[in-house]
Amino acid sequence: MSCAAVVKADAYGLGALKVVPALASVGCRHFFVAHLDEAIALHPIRPEKAEIVVLHGPPPGVESDFVAHRIIPVLNSLAQLDAWTARARALGRHLPAILQVDTGMSRLGLSPRELATVVDDPGRLDGVELLYVMSHLACSEQQSHALNADQLARFKAARAMLPAAPASFANSSGIFLSPDYHFDLARPGAALYGIAPVAGQPNPMRPVIRLQGKVIQLRNIDAGAVVGYGATWRAPTARRIATVSVGYADGFLRGLSNHSLAYFGDTPLALVGIVSMDTITLDVSDVPDDQLQPGGLVELIGDRHPVDALAEEAGTIGYEILTSLGGRYFRDYLGA
Ligand SMILES: Cc1ncc(COP(=O)(O)O)c(C=O)c1O
Repeated sequence: MSCAAVVKADAYGLGALKVVPALASVGCRHFFVAHLDEAIALHPIRPEKAEIVVLHGPPPGVESDFVAHRIIPVLNSLAQLDAWTARARALGRHLPAILQVDTGMSRLGLSPRELATVVDDPGRLDGVELLYVMSHLACSEQQSHALNADQLARFKAARAMLPAAPASFANSSGIFLSPDYHFDLARPGAALYGIAPVAGQPNPMRPVIRLQGKVIQLRNIDAGAVVGYGATWRAPTARRIATVSVGYADGFLRGLSNHSLAYFGDTPLALVGIVSMDTITLDVSDVPDDQLQPGGLVELIGDRHPVDALAEEAGTIGYEILTSLGGRYFRDYLGA
């Protein structure tokens, strides 16, 4: 099995222009994005011999841009397939593509009916250099979900009906289901960025990001004082409150209001009050005054508070936390 990297959405918010060269330097040669624009944006750092694949395939009329930029489309419908083969005929040569079949997610890929049309009329594929047949799992992070095995069976059946070609099936969680799901090219995204691939189980991946927020003000408040918009948090006793310059405009989701933790060293700090656009407020009463001053840093994502923990507090998934990380953070790429 080879391993591609899914680097759409700016490598899940982490910065594709840094992530792609780092992964290429350890041998990755297949990079998946969602849109053509994302693929073109990778050109300045496009690794030698790398294949850049656009998951959404060409919008109508844009096929020649894929050819001109040497971008490989995933063909997701008969319409996309026909437009691609028409382009190939016009150019008088085969054009590389990946063909996606829908095995149960009902999102992208040839429907069973469309697949049958292609099987009945194999000439429909003339002009396609079929690099891979692919599909995508809907429930792979839930290892016991019945749809996993159903999709696997449908994928094998679809492959058997199509011309022989390598296969790509597993996303991050799919890799952890079993080797039966691996095929020729896995397509992890989340696991590369440290997100736990299996729901409810210890994370085998190492964290790759650390997010810190800067304290910009500290104050002592009396018992009964309220904190933040809407006065949603009232101090039960005299408390010390740190204002940190991170807010929902930075992708620190408002759903974390009164419902998250930060850390100063080993000391947990409760997020109190509503997340504002540019600030959060933390109860730092357990930190000695002389240790935390304006300019001090607190850990929002890190070893003690992984991205999946923050996501759970926000009622979402690590994917949304990472892809929401805003442009105002100072980003330091270690080893890049
Ligand atoms: C078609 C496809 N393949 C692979 C991936 C990567 O999935 P994950 O981040 O769960 O590994 C995605 C992500 O949404 C996807 O849409």
